[in-house]
Amino acid sequence: MVPNVVQSDTIEVIPESPIIIDQLNESSMEDSRTLQEIRRHRELLICSSIICIVALIVSVTYFCITQNKGKQQAIIITATRSLKKVCSKTFKHQKEIYPTEHNPIALVMRDFNQDSYVDLAIINADSNSFSILLGNGNGTFQKQRSYSTGNESNPQKFAVGDLNDDGLWDLVIVLAGTNEIVIYFGDINNVLSVVPPYNLTHTYPYKNVSAIGVYDWNYDGFDDILIGYSDKTSPSKWFSLLLNIDDGRNFVEFNTVVTGLILPSQRGVIVEIMLSFFSSTQETEDLLLLEQENRIRIFHKLVFCNIWKANYTRFDTESFVSNVTELIIGRFDPDALDDEATIYTDLNVLRIHYYAKRMSLDTETDVFLKTSYFTRHDPTSVARLNFNDDQMDDIAILHCDGAITVFLTDYGFFDRNYLSFEINNNSNSKTCAKLLKSVDLNQDGEDDLIFIDTQSNAVRVVLNSVCDD
Ligand SMILES: *[C@@H]1O[C@H](CO)[C@@H](O)[C@H](O)[C@H]1NC(C)=O
Ligand SMILES: *[C@@H]1O[C@H](CO)[C@@H](O)[C@H](O)[C@H]1NC(C)=O
Ligand SMILES: *[C@@H]1O[C@H](CO)[C@@H](O)[C@H](O)[C@H]1NC(C)=O
Ligand SMILES: *[C@@H]1O[C@H](CO)[C@@H](O)[C@H](O)[C@H]1NC(C)=O
Ligand SMILES: *[C@@H]1O[C@H](CO)[C@@H](O)[C@H](O)[C@H]1NC(C)=O
Ligand SMILES: *[C@@H]1O[C@H](CO)[C@@H](O)[C@H](O)[C@H]1NC(C)=O
Ligand SMILES: *[C@@H]1O[C@H](CO)[C@@H](O)[C@H](O)[C@H]1NC(C)=O
Repeated sequence: MVPNVVQSDTIEVIPESPIIIDQLNESSMEDSRTLQEIRRHRELLICSSIICIVALIVSVTYFCITQNKGKQQAIIITATRSLKKVCSKTFKHQKEIYPTEHNPIALVMRDFNQDSYVDLAIINADSNSFSILLGNGNGTFQKQRSYSTGNESNPQKFAVGDLNDDGLWDLVIVLAGTNEIVIYFGDINNVLSVVPPYNLTHTYPYKNVSAIGVYDWNYDGFDDILIGYSDKTSPSKWFSLLLNIDDGRNFVEFNTVVTGLILPSQRGVIVEIMLSFFSSTQETEDLLLLEQENRIRIFHKLVFCNIWKANYTRFDTESFVSNVTELIIGRFDPDALDDEATIYTDLNVLRIHYYAKRMSLDTETDVFLKTSYFTRHDPTSVARLNFNDDQMDDIAILHCDGAITVFLTDYGFFDRNYLSFEINNNSNSKTCAKLLKSVDLNQDGEDDLIFIDTQSNAVRVVLNSVCDD
């Protein structure tokens, strides 16, 4: 039933979607209009919260007065105290570090050995290898196990998925040195990864692969592979979708993806492929492509026309004056839709794009409301976490010198630098700390942090904990 090769051209065009995007104004870092909009929204929420609190206090008071006068006082005092900012939580930097090999450049967290604890997979560009560090479930890791990816292979990007549907995580690694894409299948036995890897290059000799993503694009239960690449000999090529037919070794290229009006000359080099739910809370995921030329492309409303043709509507093309250092997706306001956060090392800026639906007359438009915040100097990495156990995600930012700050969400607003602490005092270091990730490492229900200390080529752990005083 499945054709061997689909020969149509990669990208077709449909008219640009009528979506209004707030234009970026780099000169005013803190966009007052959208700030006002959010402030209004926030005031509304605060007002309704106050009304709720008043109603609660009134009813509690009434209840208490009718029941027991002694208790009334206690309840109100508790409520007042909870409004104050007390240090209830912080992060504690762990002494132990976990060496990787040389120049770890990408990190993914999964449970590789099925013990229910988070493990790490890291690719080491200069050692031509990848490392797996098994988690102990108590905030510590075992010594790395490393696997060679071949002489001069220079692994640059990787993605994780279950390609052969055996319940184990497989690694798809892009080897820039040899222009190869290889798949290391997971193995439950002591080896963790099957060696040698499956060589996808035999059938799909992509050149200059710049990004890779793995997910079940066509909802058939098998993880597929998305590849961003720049082939100078064929400029119409931009990204490819390899549909996994069954066992992670047989793919067909799905070539007919209509992605809105993007001419070949407008297509940049894709450096990141991400998935999100900007425009819907279920159904199909939106595809987000970050380009080297500082553009973020969002494709949403995926519609399958037939099994070999699918349309996306283009949602956003925004060019940034400065290089996007890192981009994450999270829920930074009270709605259930994803938002986006980017950091810019050159500008010392954190920018949030709140996805929102705007009603005007009887049409609903998708918009991004943006706000920017100045960060401490040289932010290098950003992670989403839930620090204060509310419905919204918070943001942790790692800086070059290893300091971490936490921005707390407050009805879509950020309480800047709520928590800021220094991991080390190594400000003379020539290399920057990077790759901040958040995950619960010690099973206490709180998000912890890990990052790469490039000075010592090692993973550092920062555990969420209670304050000392
Ligand atoms: C997909 O896009 C093509 C080209 O614009 C259009 O002709 C077709 O009707 C679309 N199909 C669906 C199902 O939206
Ligand atoms: C964490 O678990 C490992 C393996 O079970 C154990 O060796 C280590 O002592 C534990 N460390 C802490 C701090 O509990
Ligand atoms: C890898 O490179 C080293 C040094 O360049 C060389 O001595 C060795 O033979 C190479 N190994 C393989 C398997 O190509
Ligand atoms: C992978 O396949 C390509 C193309 O056939 C080949 O050039 C390369 O040597 C292979 N790599 C490995 C590690 O087998
Ligand atoms: C890959 O990139 C290199 C360096 O930019 C370039 O020289 C080469 O032509 C590219 N290859 C293809 C097939 O585009
Ligand atoms: C973005 O990064 C590239 C490569 O690191 C650099 O050449 C370029 O000048 C940067 N652009 C801006 C606007 O900072
Ligand atoms: C830097 O850290 C070292 C060891 O952690 C400590 O002994 C030293 O006093 C610190 N220096 C400053 C300036 O904080």
